[in-house]
Amino acid sequence: MATLLDGKTLAKNVRSEVKERVMTLMEKHDVQPHLTVVLVGGDPASQTYVRGKERACKNAHIKSTVIRKDNDVSEDELLGIIDDLNEDDSVHGILVQLPLPDHINEERVIERISPKKDVDGFTAINVAHLMAGDDTLAPCTPKGIIRILDAYDIDIEGKECVVIGRSQIVGKPMAHLLLNRNGTVTVCHSRTKQIEQVAKRADILVVAVGRAHMVDESFVKPGAAVIDVGISKVDGKLRGDVAFDEVEPVAGYITPVPGGVGPMTIATLLENTITCYKRIVGA
Ligand code: GUN
Repeated sequence: MATLLDGKTLAKNVRSEVKERVMTLMEKHDVQPHLTVVLVGGDPASQTYVRGKERACKNAHIKSTVIRKDNDVSEDELLGIIDDLNEDDSVHGILVQLPLPDHINEERVIERISPKKDVDGFTAINVAHLMAGDDTLAPCTPKGIIRILDAYDIDIEGKECVVIGRSQIVGKPMAHLLLNRNGTVTVCHSRTKQIEQVAKRADILVVAVGRAHMVDESFVKPGAAVIDVGISKVDGKLRGDVAFDEVEPVAGYITPVPGGVGPMTIATLLENTITCYKRIVGA
């Protein structure tokens, strides 16, 4: 039986730590940390994520503003909004919820965010910092995963780490964070041959593909830590990328879906917001 990696409880602890830090910082600087989220269109998953972010900010005494725009917003208007937020001294963190509609160049929009307010760690400068080994503003989901591994004393140094998925949001930054902690990292993707055999080498297996139950026990070395980033809705139920019931008896550690990685993503976003705030107010 695998140990369940309880991201939900861990996130709760991180969020109350953040709240304490916010209260101390506000006492000292008399300025409330402020995260602004830009949400385009009505994608139900994005709406849910953004509501979760708003709620978490409120509970941690971080001010949150959501700028909502219709699906047909122009790229120029979006860039103008970001320019205004970059200039606005009362805003410490900016997050543009992805994906954006097809007519908008996502990279151009992200790149417009001031790197010092880039709570997602998606701008080229912050990606470069991550690659250089400075991961203070790393993307929230992979950073939250490192926090889970640390909380359960799962050693990364020298371990075989396999990441399935090479997205900008999770797979690539995950690989760098594991490498920065001296893991031996392999990234698998849709063109990888004999993916099961490669995955089976892993002491730490991170799956971030977005395909429900694609990883079964044939991918998993006995005793491995299995981290499931996927969330898909199948027949109205949330499913991870990992077939939990089949993998759990083989794995040493496993994250549930929901209640594993997801809550830690939001908790890490709050931490990144505080990092931006501290840099901006000089704390
Ligand atoms: N869409 C899905 N995950 C994320 C994330 O971590 N950040 C942003 N901005 N959009 C997302």
